[in-house]
Amino acid sequence: MLLAISILSITAAAEVSADAGKKLFKANCASCHKLDKKLIGPALGDVTQRRTEEWLLKWIRNNAEFRASGDADANALFAEYKGSIMQAFPALTDDDIKSILAYTVEGDKKAAPAAAPAPGADAAAQAPAEGGNSPWLIYILGAFLLVNLVLLFRVRNTLKQINGENPTNLLEDVDFITRVLIANKRFMTFLTVVLALGFLYAIYSFLMGIGIEKDYQPVQPIAFSHKIHAGENGVDCNYCHSSARHSKHSGIPAANVCMNCHMYIDGSEVVDASGNLKYGGERSPEIQKIYAAIGWDPEERVYMEGYEQKPIQWIRIHNLPDLAYFNHAQHVNAGKVECQTCHGPVQEMEVAYQYSELTMGWCINCHRETEIKGENGYYAGAIDGSASISDRLVDRFHEEKITVANIGGLECGKCHY
Ligand code: HEC
Ligand code: HEC
Ligand code: HEC
Ligand code: HEC
Ligand code: HEC
Ligand code: HEC
Repeated sequence: MLLAISILSITAAAEVSADAGKKLFKANCASCHKLDKKLIGPALGDVTQRRTEEWLLKWIRNNAEFRASGDADANALFAEYKGSIMQAFPALTDDDIKSILAYTVEGDKKAAPAAAPAPGADAAAQAPAEGGNSPWLIYILGAFLLVNLVLLFRVRNTLKQINGENPTNLLEDVDFITRVLIANKRFMTFLTVVLALGFLYAIYSFLMGIGIEKDYQPVQPIAFSHKIHAGENGVDCNYCHSSARHSKHSGIPAANVCMNCHMYIDGSEVVDASGNLKYGGERSPEIQKIYAAIGWDPEERVYMEGYEQKPIQWIRIHNLPDLAYFNHAQHVNAGKVECQTCHGPVQEMEVAYQYSELTMGWCINCHRETEIKGENGYYAGAIDGSASISDRLVDRFHEEKITVANIGGLECGKCHY
């Protein structure tokens, strides 16, 4: 029981750890801060020496509010950075922020291998530092049960020997132990909890396994909106996804494509729904992330020299398994299928998501139903002026409608290597 209790208390304990801090830093701060040098914002490697924890908690949580409260240091810093904006992070808890600060102190150096536990520290309490779902927990529980069973056997056998009975009937023993255990309320509660946790974990893994799926809509590193670009500003899909026309992949544009416009549009004129300047005339923090990725200095209006560019880590939304072959050019060019037929109303999406199922059935259904267009280049007819391929196919199949299926679109080998 003791063990079970200590396990429970471990899971409940909130953690401040440099490891967790590193992840949070990479996800939220790395686009503007480095530990060892100035980026958009100051280097943070020594920030805990320059500022108190209380100051840092307030600044990182919501620096605009903090500045408005009249803190002199905060306002001086803001002035020093000529009004570059750091957004607020209302979702970060105090422990999250302390973890990030722990990371700024520890940095990227590998933690010393298996630091010796602090004297007097409970060994079990050290274990979870290894991380989340370690199988050790299961081994420990298993061992715990086994030890209990062996003990029960011993007790039972000893009792039998005292009574002068024959001590070794395994089946009888198992039966006895089962009854003892079932009668034991605490054991049954424990077992129920373990089973319930196992069940929840199984459901969780199952859902995570499905993961990339219809409606999948990850949070992207930059709040890029197709609605603003392809919708309101009417930028053609091909401006950014040019390879969709002539290659298998459609690809995501590199940051220099963004810079064609964002060298001039820094977001300071973005207005919100009520017609006010969204960032009070300051640069948009989202657009500054593009600058941070590519090394553009918006003050001096130059690309910083010797800057190590960091590609924007867009999270992939659509992802067919490797066993299936899909080619964009074949569909967009030859097949004349609109992007929206497969990807939905992208130009209205504030945040992109997966619109179609992308299952085999989805591919096949469309191949069964979609007529191949006789008038398009590929099927328009041979150079010698003879009938178009579609027309010839109509003759061959004695059907009015020639679908992708008729030209082999249902053959396994077309989609599977
Ligand atoms: C969009 C860019 C941006 C992001 C993202 C960002 N910061 Fe900042 N940060 C700045 C700028 C710029 C400053 C300088 C002050 C100013 O102009 O507001 C700053 C200042 C700071 C300071 C004060 C440093 C000092 O020298 O006193 C701390 C601490 C800080 N940021 C921590 C963080 C943490 C932690 C995160 C992530 C949770 C983060 N920042 C995310 C841009 C950013
Ligand atoms: C200004 C550049 C730009 C334009 C114009 C644009 N996109 Fe995108 N598109 C992006 C960027 C950047 C991403 C990655 C970020 C995201 O998913 O929102 C993306 C992602 C996508 C994705 C998801 C890719 C994945 O991860 O699986 C699809 C689908 C897509 N765009 C389709 C379109 C279509 C269709 C149009 C035209 C209606 C269009 N895009 C116009 C820049 C653009
Ligand atoms: C053809 C020009 C063009 C290209 C290319 C372009 N953008 Fe934009 N972007 C705009 C315009 C116009 C706005 C709206 C600005 C406004 O309302 O003041 C905008 C707004 C934005 C905003 C919203 C700013 C905010 O905080 O509200 C983000 C983020 C953004 N763009 C990111 C990107 C990224 C990332 C790329 C490259 C993948 C990109 N843009 C490529 C023209 C472009
Ligand atoms: C016949 C359906 C279909 C059409 C039409 C189509 N796509 Fe796709 N698109 C897909 C599928 C399926 C994937 C996933 C491919 C993979 O994982 O290999 C995908 C993936 C993407 C991606 C993610 C990057 C990549 O290349 O895998 C982008 C971006 C994209 N499409 C944009 C477009 C644009 C822009 C158009 C129009 C010019 C378009 N798509 C037309 C089905 C389609
Ligand atoms: C919206 C309808 C549509 C969907 C959905 C669709 N396709 Fe297609 N597909 C077409 C059309 C139209 C063609 C014919 C192109 C042409 O004219 O060459 C085609 C052709 C093909 C071909 C070439 C067939 C041949 O005989 O040369 C392959 C391979 C293919 N598709 C794979 C896929 C895969 C894999 C998927 C699912 C991930 C898929 N398609 C989803 C419409 C679709
Ligand atoms: C038009 C394209 C297309 C054709 C034709 C096609 N498949 Fe598929 N198949 C796919 C796609 C796409 C997937 C991946 C679907 C997913 O991830 O849900 C797939 C998945 C599969 C899988 C794996 C299923 C799984 O659960 O992972 C098998 C097995 C398979 N196909 C067999 C076949 C056989 C056999 C044929 C011929 C009778 C065939 N396919 C014809 C597109 C096709």
